[in-house]
Amino acid sequence: MDVVVVPTAVDVATYAADLVAARIAAEPGMVLGVATGSSPVGIYRELARRRTEGTLELSHLTCFALDEYVGLAPGHPRSYAAYLDREIARPWGLASSRVRVPEASRPDLEVAAAEYEQEIAAAGGIDLQILGIGTNGHIGFNEPISSLSSRTRVAALTAQTRTDNARFFDGPDDVPTRCLTQGLGTILEARQVVLVAQGERKAAAVAAAVEGPVAARCPASVLQFHPRTVLVLDEAAASGLTSGTCLRPVPGRGDGGGPRGSAPAS
Ligand code: GLP
Repeated sequence: MDVVVVPTAVDVATYAADLVAARIAAEPGMVLGVATGSSPVGIYRELARRRTEGTLELSHLTCFALDEYVGLAPGHPRSYAAYLDREIARPWGLASSRVRVPEASRPDLEVAAAEYEQEIAAAGGIDLQILGIGTNGHIGFNEPISSLSSRTRVAALTAQTRTDNARFFDGPDDVPTRCLTQGLGTILEARQVVLVAQGERKAAAVAAAVEGPVAARCPASVLQFHPRTVLVLDEAAASGLTSGTCLRPVPGRGDGGGPRGSAPAS
């Protein structure tokens, strides 16, 4: 794992957008894995800004979501399909057919899960996966005690996650109890992973993921097995890391208030 620590949440978005944009510029038709939630929004908006200014072409991408709630009507504004339409398809100029989301309103959820895996494989796999992290260490909706080799499946949301996500709904009782999510084994097959986290409320989960044992109680810790993962953290999210965790200046960025951390995988 590479860990990059930058001062603020805005810096996280800019730094991670630089990483993603460089990869897209080199391979405009790549397959991008896109997380939902608040953490990656700054990246998506920064990429959209670059598209608007004419420096980045995004319309050739194919995107795959990590997960979707079960039990929301199609088109529900809090569904991840609606989120990705708002934050990615429209601002990036992408045909909606290029933004794939698990079909969690189907009656045959197990079949939908298997077909989603097949779709990812047919697209050639995920080239770069953007991730956030839950306060309990989840990635996608792989909650604690998920199998470290799990595949796309129906899963239950923990009370903690439903409480965390209540801010997007009218209240905690409106947050669905189940989801369709890519598994940890699915996520590990992405060729490159960029995980972003901001704020102190993520500090414990980040520390467990980076420095804790690889354990199902912190699903993100499985990324320790991934050969090409970079975490981009603001100082608050990094505050639980103990000293000496692969922190060194980033070449070319200086050390006078600029980002510090290990150089990310390019
Ligand atoms: C959500 C999503 C995850 C996301 C995480 C953190 O519920 N399923 O993909 O990374 O929880 O959310 P946020 O970025 O809003 O803190």
